[in-house]
Parts: sequence; structure tokens; C-alpha cells
Amino acid sequence: MRWLKEKTVLITGGGAGIGKAIVDRFVAEGANLLVFDISKERLVEIDHEFEGKVATYQGDVRSYSDNEQAVACTIERFGKLDCLVANAGLFDGFVKLLDYQPEVLEQTYQQLFDINVKGAFHAARAALPELMKTKGNMIFSVSGSSFYPDGGGTIYTATKHAVLGLIRQLAFEAAPTVRVNGVAPGGTITDLKVVPSLEGLAKQVSKEEKKASIQSRNPLRMYMVPEDHVASYVLLASDQARAITGEVINSNGGLTVRGLS
Ligand SMILES: NC(=O)c1ccc[n+]([C@@H]2O[C@H](COP(=O)([O-])OP(=O)(O)OC[C@H]3O[C@@H](n4cnc5c(N)ncnc54)[C@H](O)[C@@H]3O)[C@@H](O)[C@H]2O)c1
Repeated sequence: MRWLKEKTVLITGGGAGIGKAIVDRFVAEGANLLVFDISKERLVEIDHEFEGKVATYQGDVRSYSDNEQAVACTIERFGKLDCLVANAGLFDGFVKLLDYQPEVLEQTYQQLFDINVKGAFHAARAALPELMKTKGNMIFSVSGSSFYPDGGGTIYTATKHAVLGLIRQLAFEAAPTVRVNGVAPGGTITDLKVVPSLEGLAKQVSKEEKKASIQSRNPLRMYMVPEDHVASYVLLASDQARAITGEVINSNGGLTVRGLS
């Protein structure tokens, strides 16, 4: 059985990392996709890899009109929209509040809230009218840091708490027509970037250091790769989840049962 047969999906930040793994799996599950990403290079790679069968749109989630255009392109190409995956995001490299000079704090706040929070709002607002026509759903990429400390610095953590608020209130407002959920990955090996204002301030860590650090902090003692999370997105996007709204699937190696030691 293909879980997403005949479903049309718009994903932001689908060019790399967790988003690209979602694209690969959603295609295998029978979905039509439009990938909205800021990276022209990654979109060209997707055009080649899928021989034009996956549509692409280059834009910036911070712009409402880019989100509106991405929705319009999806409708023009596939005729409808069943699911929005709002996934694009940046990171703060665990920078601590006391280490910020005030002007860097100002810039970082603006950059991270614009991409992680405003980007999610814009995508949701632009997609909602089309999702209402199909009784569709939205899935937001949140984070272990939406629930627990030590998944990022204060600003990243606050952005991911904010998106949790968006999920819960919008699930209430959009019911009974549109379902709204999230997936919260734990530390995952990707090239997730820190915002430009923190280049030089955020500590550079190698992939090996990152793996060891993630493994040491969850009970399953695992570092995650993007493919570990995609089944959660497939479930929430599918009709199998028709009773699920306002929920977040935690996919994090067991942070809930981390214990006191
Ligand atoms: N990697 C982790 O450890 C981790 C853990 C929890 C949650 N997340 C969340 O998962 C999501 C994906 O992260 P990832 O690790 O796969 O990152 P990634 O950097 O590998 O992929 C992010 C994609 O988003 C795109 N993007 C960035 N800014 C954009 C913008 N302004 N407009 C449009 N596209 C933009 C990038 O070009 C890239 O293709 C993010 O929301 C992140 O916060 C990641």
C-alpha cells in the first residue's frame, strides 16, 4: 500500500537534510510534491534527480508573496493541495544569552524568528485556503527544544516553542476541516546552518563531535539521521491519521524518559 497515493504536498526547506529525506519518502509513497527552498543549487539537483516529476520553487519563507507563489505553483501544476510540510529552519549553535552583545542579540532574534516562526506563519496562512478545499493537513518541523532545554540556545528554543503554540492554536481554529500537527526531531546529523549573525560566535563542531554529543543525551544512545523521522511525517500526512490534530510526534531517542542523572 502506498500511503500518500494521489496526495499533493508542498514542503518548505525540502532541498536538504530532513526535508530532502521527506521528499524521497513521500515520492516513494505516491505523493506529488512541490519543493520550496531558498537554494537554487539544491533545486536544480532535485530537478535532475526526479526528471521534473517533482516541482520546485525558489524563494524565501520569510516573504509572504513567495509562500503565496509556491502555493499558486502547486495548484497550477497539480490542481490541488492536500498537505503543507513547513520545515525550513536555521539554528543558533547553542550560543548562551550572556555571550551575546546586544546588537548581535537583536540581529539573531530577527533572523531566527523571521525564518523559524514568521516563515511558518506565512506558509500556514498561504496554504490554509487550499487545504480547506481538500480537508487537508499541515505538519510543522519543530524540535526536541520545543519541549526540553539543551536542544539549542535560548533564541532557537524560543522559536521552536513559538511554533508549538502555532500548531496548538491553529489546530483549534482550523478544526474540523484541516488537521494541524508537528514532528519534533531530536539531534540529527544534517548541515543545519546557524544564522549569519552568529558566524564566528557559534562553536564549530565536527560531525563526529555532534554524533557523540547527541548520543550521550538520549536514552536510546543514538544519533539520528533524517530518514529516522520520515515515517512520522508519512503517518500524519496520510488519511490513517484522520483522528489526529494538535499533536506532535517526538522522534528523539527518548528525551521524555531522560531521567535525572
Ligand atoms: N538537524 C537537527 O538536529 C534538527 C533537530 C530538530 C529539528 N530540526 C528542524 O528541522 C528542520 C530542517 O532542519 P535540517 O537539519 O534538515 O536543516 P538543513 O539545513 O539540512 O535543511 C534546511 C533546508 O531549508 C532551506 N532553507 C533555509 N532557509 C530558508 C529560507 N529562508 N527559505 C526557504 N528555504 C530555506 C535550506 O536551503 C535547506 O535546504 C528545521 O526546521 C530544524 O529546525 C533539525
